[in-house]
Amino acid sequence: MKWIAVNTYEEISEVAANIFSKQIQEKPNSVLGLATGGSPVGMYKELVARHQAGRLSFKDVQTFNLDEYVGLEQASPASYWTFMHENLFNFVDILTENIHLPNGKSEDLAAECVAYDGRIEEAGGIDLQLLGIGVNGHIGFNEPGTPFDATTNIVELTESTRTENAVYFDNLSEVPTHAITMGIQSIMKAKEIVLIAFGEKKLDAIEKLKSGHVTEDFPASQLLNHPNVTIIYGGTN
Ligand code: GLP
Repeated sequence: MKWIAVNTYEEISEVAANIFSKQIQEKPNSVLGLATGGSPVGMYKELVARHQAGRLSFKDVQTFNLDEYVGLEQASPASYWTFMHENLFNFVDILTENIHLPNGKSEDLAAECVAYDGRIEEAGGIDLQLLGIGVNGHIGFNEPGTPFDATTNIVELTESTRTENAVYFDNLSEVPTHAITMGIQSIMKAKEIVLIAFGEKKLDAIEKLKSGHVTEDFPASQLLNHPNVTIIYGGTN
């Protein structure tokens, strides 16, 4: 595991954007795993700027997002579909058919989970996966206690996660209780992983990860068993 300590959110965003730009430049038809939340917003901004400056094209890139809420309309302001369009997809030359998010409105959610992993396989697997980390160590929406061998699945969100994410909704009662998420095993299949964690709020989680103890009670710890992970962390907020 490679650790990169930085001081500011801008630095995290730039270092992460450099890794993603290099990946796309070296392999224009890269398959990227993408994440939502506050952490990656700056990196997406930087990628958009590089695209607008003519330095980066997404025209052959495919993307797979980690997760989506169950039950939200795709166009809902709080859906991850909307987040990704407002922060990245609307401003780059990615083809609509190359954008993939799990469908949290599927009538057959179990089948959607299997199909999502299938679509990733068909695309040749994820070359580079971006992750944030929850304060409780969750990655994607894999909450503490998730088996490491889980593939894409439906999860019940913990109260702590619902409360954290309530800022994106009018109030807590509107935060969905369930989500569809790539499983830890699906994430571990990525050839390379970059995890970004900014601010004091995430320090405990980073310290736990650094301690080297692998346990299903702390989902991100399974990353210690992956051969190519970079953690970019630091900053105060
Ligand atoms: C959500 C997402 C995670 C993300 C986490 C942290 O729960 N499902 O993928 O890593 O939030 O978000 P933030 O970056 O806003 O702290």
